[in-house]
Amino acid sequence: MKKKQWGGRFAGSTDALMERLGESVSFDSRLALWDIRASRAHARMLGARGIISPEDSRAILWGLDAIEKEVKAGNVAWDVSLEDVHTNIEAMLIARIGNAGKKLHTARSRNDQIATDVRLWLRDQIDDLLQKLFALRQALVSLAEQYFHVVLPGFTHLQHAQPVLFAHHMLAYYEMFTRDRDRLCEVRKRVNIMPLGSAALAGTPHPIDREMVARELGFDGISANSMDAVSDRDHLIEFCSACALIMTHLSRMAEELVLWSSQEFSFIEIGDAFTTGSSIMPQKKNPDAAELTRGRAAGVIGDLMTLLALVKGLPLTYNRDLQEDKPPLFHAADTTLLCVEVFARMLQTVTVNENAMKRALQQGFLEATDLADYLVSRGVAFREAHEIVGRVVRRCLELQVTLPDLPMEEYQKFSGAFGSDLYEYIRPEVMVARRDVPGGTAPKQVRRALNRVKRVLKQEAEKN
Ligand code: ARG
Repeated sequence: MKKKQWGGRFAGSTDALMERLGESVSFDSRLALWDIRASRAHARMLGARGIISPEDSRAILWGLDAIEKEVKAGNVAWDVSLEDVHTNIEAMLIARIGNAGKKLHTARSRNDQIATDVRLWLRDQIDDLLQKLFALRQALVSLAEQYFHVVLPGFTHLQHAQPVLFAHHMLAYYEMFTRDRDRLCEVRKRVNIMPLGSAALAGTPHPIDREMVARELGFDGISANSMDAVSDRDHLIEFCSACALIMTHLSRMAEELVLWSSQEFSFIEIGDAFTTGSSIMPQKKNPDAAELTRGRAAGVIGDLMTLLALVKGLPLTYNRDLQEDKPPLFHAADTTLLCVEVFARMLQTVTVNENAMKRALQQGFLEATDLADYLVSRGVAFREAHEIVGRVVRRCLELQVTLPDLPMEEYQKFSGAFGSDLYEYIRPEVMVARRDVPGGTAPKQVRRALNRVKRVLKQEAEKN
């Protein structure tokens, strides 16, 4: 027997196909605990304002507590014919406490209810993500600290460019993830505004106290416009955008970890816990965690596109399309939380192969820029020095030697300005140390940067 439609308006029942299309409880039931919290605050306010009796308010609170326990215990059989998490919980409440339960929905609509639930849920996700980002930033700082003096080739165009400190490279990612953190904090401010009290779209004639509810739920304020409040999803788009950026940053790093752990580079080894073997090739140790994260970034970028496309054609105010905001939102949050946590842990298992990095420094003529600068310091114009060193490099290629191995008499053929002190001048450590500008890779500067970020992390830890 099919159930009759919800409410008195309908004589006929819903088509099974309509039910399949329309139900959201299969995915929004995960909002149940936040829905109950919001309902509790609403019920308390309704009682306090005399909109319902104190007894009814108390009965509702008691009923919600009981339902919350059931939800936490995983004992609830969600009914898709009741459409969504809100109607399911309301039906459970009425089944449990009778008439009083029918009064909970006074002065509210599912439109402001879902908007409120999602904001409460999202606020918790953001706080969780901020903590996981913190651990990730800490892991980067630990690596920077542990291998502080290691020098490796810095790349442009994936070609050897100039030597840099490994710590400098790690702190580059630290900066990205710190901006990601700042972005999330910014988004959180706009998420933490309460839509409840907007009702379906226009507000309610009942004498509600929105501030009271907002206070109980820990919102920073209440929405200013009921029509905006029930139909705006830009805070979700901002959140997914922040997630897409985090995933993009992780994906860039993943790409480097994959390259660095290849035989060709052998710069690092990722611990067994975050790599896997091959079902056929016994020698393999694959950087799957990094690869999967790189792959999952695609999905989160997709989530952002989905939300943008979902909202772009919608007239005010609530439209049922908005129910479709949840799968991409949940997916973006779940994926980003997981991948950030994975990276924080995986980085702790990374060991750096200093010798491989040192060997790599001998390839690609990383000293060329410094050699030109050397000539500049001897009075040669930079453009001319650039030309001379280019010819020296060509000579090295002919002789199959590196710049530090090229004998002085060879150098002399290209310019009389070359002296034997050039060999010291182009030692990797010396080259790195010369980049002594704020933001540069000189150990002095990187040490300063590292001390600064450690102070920042310490302050953040104390605040939480
Ligand atoms: N399940 C809906 C959603 O997620 C609830 C909101 C209101 N539904 C409605 N028919 N007015 O958007």
